[in-house]
Amino acid sequence: MTVPAPVRSALGLLLAGVQNPPADLQALVIAPAAGRCGPAANGPVDAFRDHGVLHTTVGTTAVTLRVLSAQHTRCWLLSCDLPGQMSSVGGPMSGVEVLPAAVTDTAQLNEFMLDRGLGGDWPQVVRFGSADRLLVAFTDGIRPHAAVHARDASPKPSRGGDIRVAVLGAGVIGKRVIHEVMSDDRFTLAGVVVRSANTFVHARPDVPYYAFDEDTARTLPTQGVGVRGRLEDLLTQADVVIDCGPSRSGAARAALYREAGIRSVFCGGERDSTLGPVVHPALSSEELLSAQSVRLTSCNTTALARVVAALAPASIAEVDVTVVRCCTDTDKAGKGITNGAVLGPTPSHHAQDLVSVVPGLRASSLALTVPMDAGHVIHARISLAPQLSRRAALARLADASRLNVIHEGSTIDQVHRRATMKTPWHNRYDLDVQVVDTGTPDRLDLWLALDNEAITIPEALDVLAATTAGPARGETVGAGPVGKNAAT
Ligand SMILES: NC(=O)c1ccc[n+]([C@@H]2O[C@H](COP(=O)([O-])OP(=O)(O)OC[C@H]3O[C@@H](n4cnc5c(N)ncnc54)[C@H](OP(=O)(O)O)[C@@H]3O)[C@@H](O)[C@H]2O)c1
Repeated sequence: MTVPAPVRSALGLLLAGVQNPPADLQALVIAPAAGRCGPAANGPVDAFRDHGVLHTTVGTTAVTLRVLSAQHTRCWLLSCDLPGQMSSVGGPMSGVEVLPAAVTDTAQLNEFMLDRGLGGDWPQVVRFGSADRLLVAFTDGIRPHAAVHARDASPKPSRGGDIRVAVLGAGVIGKRVIHEVMSDDRFTLAGVVVRSANTFVHARPDVPYYAFDEDTARTLPTQGVGVRGRLEDLLTQADVVIDCGPSRSGAARAALYREAGIRSVFCGGERDSTLGPVVHPALSSEELLSAQSVRLTSCNTTALARVVAALAPASIAEVDVTVVRCCTDTDKAGKGITNGAVLGPTPSHHAQDLVSVVPGLRASSLALTVPMDAGHVIHARISLAPQLSRRAALARLADASRLNVIHEGSTIDQVHRRATMKTPWHNRYDLDVQVVDTGTPDRLDLWLALDNEAITIPEALDVLAATTAGPARGETVGAGPVGKNAAT
């Protein structure tokens, strides 16, 4: 094995940035599994592989590298000691960027780069702030002299629509909603309620932030985050709040929204029926869609709802599905299992949720969870009612919006599909549908492949759009570059 080019570039940059390069340097390199960033076809699975020791010279420094590879796709890591010179690495002249303290692993690091509009092949060398020993990360896209440390990730601002939207939470779903609302002419982003400065908040200072409570209002400014007010202030300036807090936590905030008299939209992880009906824009009545408090369908239920809507509920005799779930999101390395599969011992909530949107539909669902973060997969077996032929059913799927029917014979590679997306965060809003001909008459066997992080966003915007814009409830505290003054 020769010294990989990105490692050589990173070493060159590190050593060029210190005043007195050492005569010798010992470093540990952790390579992505494939020997380049991206998926690997041959492990290591649940293991590290030892690639031995490499020797090279960088400038005047003799470098000894111990190289390991790990079950990892995102970037390279290099750790070494530079006694007496650590403070210059990451200084303004060094060409190395020091990461905010919120970034503590490579999943958050990658997310931070995506939040800033840089791709998965970000060009700079970054230093983890918390490590005593130097720990830096870089990708195959390293450009040693790149001045590019961030890109303006703000979307093209909308003209500022009539419906003023407040968003609570800037996690996986919240930040995607924020991004879309900011560029959609139907909406004005009134503000975003946060309780901590996560990677998105650091990456996107252009967003109007509001603090959830007193504590947050005190701590955010100490982390360099400007705050325009408190949750209560924001609620007076919005027509609707979309609560993107963690699943099953919305009920704790519902009373605040009720007191403020504001319409509330909760995300798909809320199981509490007092938060309103579960709705889907293509299946629910207008009355339900515009109710004062509603719940969106979860990502998998959204996928199923799109298929049911495309075929028409009356043309379906029965839906039976097996959901293969990713164990975690792209930004949460700590959440998932690392090997194996967790089999749901009881029917999953998906069928039940689908039936609550389409009363009378016969549906059943099971789910299992696997160590993966590239999107969920569903095997759907749909028995057709006598009036719908298999051929007509396929034609309906091909014509439906937000479905991407994959040609027979092609396979869906979730990681590849994500990598080829040019959208923010590589979002895939459409549902990939592959028809598998099992030779079973009157039944469709479908593989459904979805981006769990993005698929609900189009429906979320449809449900927000069902809000009636009200008279100004207070004066908008400058909505910055994204909004218009709601009081006018
Ligand atoms: N992730 C998915 O694939 C997915 C797909 C469809 C639907 N959903 C549903 O969407 C909802 C959001 O999920 P998510 O994946 O976006 O979760 P997430 O990534 O964990 O984000 C939740 C965010 O809410 C913030 N938060 C929590 N309490 C708050 C408060 N009191 N005030 C302000 N912010 C608060 C958290 O802040 P901290 O950083 O301070 O904790 C975090 O940033 C859930 O109902 C989930 O089930 C998720």
